[in-house]
Amino acid sequence: MGKKVTVVGAGFYGSTTAQRLAEYDVFDTVVITDIVEGKPAGLALDLNQSRAIEGFETKVVGVTTGPNGEGYEAIEGSDVVVITAGLPRKPGMSRMDLLETNAKIVRQVAENVAKYAPSAVVIVVSNPLDEMTALAQIATQFPKNRVLGQAGMLDTARFSNFVAEALNVPVASVRTLTLGSHGDTMVPVPSKSTVNGKPLRDAMPAEQIEELVVKTRNGGAEVVALLKTGSAYYAPSAAAARMAKAVAEDSGEVMPVCAWVDGEYGISGVYLGVEAEIGAEGVKRVVETDLDADERASLLAAAEAVRAKQSDISSM
Ligand code: LMR
Repeated sequence: MGKKVTVVGAGFYGSTTAQRLAEYDVFDTVVITDIVEGKPAGLALDLNQSRAIEGFETKVVGVTTGPNGEGYEAIEGSDVVVITAGLPRKPGMSRMDLLETNAKIVRQVAENVAKYAPSAVVIVVSNPLDEMTALAQIATQFPKNRVLGQAGMLDTARFSNFVAEALNVPVASVRTLTLGSHGDTMVPVPSKSTVNGKPLRDAMPAEQIEELVVKTRNGGAEVVALLKTGSAYYAPSAAAARMAKAVAEDSGEVMPVCAWVDGEYGISGVYLGVEAEIGAEGVKRVVETDLDADERASLLAAAEAVRAKQSDISSM
């Protein structure tokens, strides 16, 4: 049977994710939902009208959902559901300032996903990311491997871009990695970062790497400050769409994602940014990589910071 993916939320993040997913042409159907009357249907119509130009057969369906789950029957049979619902932060806010507002929204969405798409893999992108991923697992009661969050791919992409710009080299020659949280305890991993296969640490001085690490950690806030309303969506949607594609194709690709960690790195029982093999069942396996002592210590600190917040969310 053909593959079906749902994107919940038709803001810029949701609509660009739906566009990328449709243009991959690997799904039969992309469903986009929103609570705003007409908006998802309008976007779907517009995307379908681009099919003849972009050359994809995927059909996009737009559905407005109601406060009591009306409309959610459209997501039935989805292999993947990407949850983008929730508010973006405003300039000056931290992602954590969205916790209570977005918890209500994500819980309600996740409960409907569990009801109407009980076999789906859920990819959460709403902020604060690590906490909303944990909440979606609690609200769906899905196995933990079937609920994951998008952040590591985005933060890694930002880090790679900044390194490529700083060295004036093609971005394709740069490999970087970020682990930890999608927040203040993000852990860029210079020891696993390379330029043309050579260690990043040989390509630039430690102070410059640190500057780019800080820029990566502030990558989302910098976009928010410039946009003034809303937050980033081109790079975030690229990351989320790639994850959904890896699930649909059961590709087994290793990606940095927010996944349930149970024993790896000596860390247990928390959603955290790590590398994982992604396939039809969501996370096939968390991949533990060698870290140097500082990076390992930062990852442990990130795990404890996220754990402290995640323990609050079951009551939200
Ligand atoms: C991002 O990193 O772009 C997103 O998490 C949105 C934000 O508020 O920064």
